[in-house]
Amino acid sequence: MSFSWSKALMRRRWSVFLILLLGAGCGSENASTGAAPAHPGAPIYLRSCFSCHASGLAGAPRAGDAVAWEERLAKGREQLLKNTIEGVPPGMPARGMCSNCSDEQLADAIDYMIKESGLK
Ligand code: HEC
Repeated sequence: MSFSWSKALMRRRWSVFLILLLGAGCGSENASTGAAPAHPGAPIYLRSCFSCHASGLAGAPRAGDAVAWEERLAKGREQLLKNTIEGVPPGMPARGMCSNCSDEQLADAIDYMIKESGLK
């Protein structure tokens, strides 16, 4: 008798545990969808461009540096995208080393860095 009771209790505990786990999952999902929508270029920037463009490695215009980006932006977005696709030797690799990024994704990543710098 007492044995089956403890078994039932164990099962209960498991279900409470599972519900807590599921609840935690939902909670974090809500938190991320509740925030302002992320810029579409953010994940591409973080994956492929961040390594150079966060620190300004090898003279890369730093994301967040309005002066650096204003200078670049003066060429026009079309030209910036073209240079990103083709690369700017020697520092800037073609497609920012993201060989499987589409042109559109690269344009988004550029736009993200420009916005991060407070420009439009
Ligand atoms: C290995 C380092 C590195 C990575 C990775 C990198 N960049 Fe760059 N990027 C540079 C450097 C260095 C320059 C400056 C080149 C110059 O003007 O001499 C630059 C310049 C640029 C420019 C300005 C080009 C111009 O015409 O003035 C754009 C736009 C740019 N990068 C976009 C990107 C994007 C988008 C990514 C990610 C998909 C990326 N970069 C990844 C190093 C990098």
